[in-house]
Amino acid sequence: MKLFKKVMAAGLASTMVLSMAACGGGSTETTAAPETTVAATEAPVETTAAEETTASEAAETTAEEVAEATGDFDASNVTVGISIYKFDDNFMTLYRTELERYLTEDLGFKKENITIQDGKGDQAEQSNQIDNFITSGVDVLILNLVQASSAPQITDKCNAAGIPVVYINREPDAEEEKRWESEGIKATYVGCDARQSGTFQGEEILATSNKGDINGDGKVSYIMIQGDPENVDAQYRTEFSVKALTDAGVEVEELFMQRGDWDQAKGQQLTQDALTLHGEDIEVVFCNNDAMALGALQAIEAAGRKVNEDIYLVGVDALTEAVQNVLDGKMTGTVFNDHIAQAKSAADIAVQFLQGEDVAAVNMVDYTKVTTENAQEVLDALK
Ligand code: GAL
Repeated sequence: MKLFKKVMAAGLASTMVLSMAACGGGSTETTAAPETTVAATEAPVETTAAEETTASEAAETTAEEVAEATGDFDASNVTVGISIYKFDDNFMTLYRTELERYLTEDLGFKKENITIQDGKGDQAEQSNQIDNFITSGVDVLILNLVQASSAPQITDKCNAAGIPVVYINREPDAEEEKRWESEGIKATYVGCDARQSGTFQGEEILATSNKGDINGDGKVSYIMIQGDPENVDAQYRTEFSVKALTDAGVEVEELFMQRGDWDQAKGQQLTQDALTLHGEDIEVVFCNNDAMALGALQAIEAAGRKVNEDIYLVGVDALTEAVQNVLDGKMTGTVFNDHIAQAKSAADIAVQFLQGEDVAAVNMVDYTKVTTENAQEVLDALK
């Protein structure tokens, strides 16, 4: 499968990336953390024979990719400003680490020319950081906005300063994206279509032996643990997970829906609240991401319930811990939010802008379902 070859090719970085997430990632404002890249190169030192094969495959792929992605482009003096909506986010920690690795190791950017800032979940603070990037004259910006609705103002400022912008992860609205095209503005979005991830979650429930109707009362009674509802990923995953069921003619009943802001502790608390309120009536727990699903699992286990026996649980992202849970039957499924392909695409597109090429306004990467059938394969690829 092409996806997994690609993941395997970046496997060494992933090892490092995933262990960063396990530590919870950094949370302080910083320039590109030097240890990050050092650790990424040091990670593969203790390799088995099998891993060594992967290492040489990775080297081959990387050389081809560099040539393909950069051509004659010399990245060594190019400055990049990156702002992440919040460092304290498991998925964005994986993404950020891979982005820095790919820019430096594969595309030849210098670590000291890349500044990565923590938006700390505060749009005003992030906007100040972006103003500072503009004043310091960075060559290109890669931005994961706190609030995607700020894109028009930020885009205008960058455009006035002649700095191209690659937005990642939090998609500005369609009207704004059209404006970039119609006004010839050097701005673009790289992400995934969150409708697809929601649909995949619903399909994972439909694939169970009773299509989610554990108690056989003719309807699927679910709870929804949402991410940040300002975020289109949360909106679409909420809508399309349930739509997949209703489109298949399955009757549904929503028992509980609350925002958990992508956060594990909130996912745990909310699921505990829902279980206290609705107990055995809950058949399916939909979580907009894996961090919240990991929290939900803690609450489910504490309540003495058993996933895949008397309750179903699905998430999105394919954090290693969640994929392991799928393999162990503690989660029904998850969906791989391919941070490796997204980081690569964002960086490659930044290079295209710098080379004066035309760039499409929207660039989407596919999600992949993760179920018991392929969980081991995904885990091996991410390790
Ligand atoms: C989503 C991801 C979440 C969270 C969010 C931040 O795509 O699934 O875990 O990282 O992005 O915007």
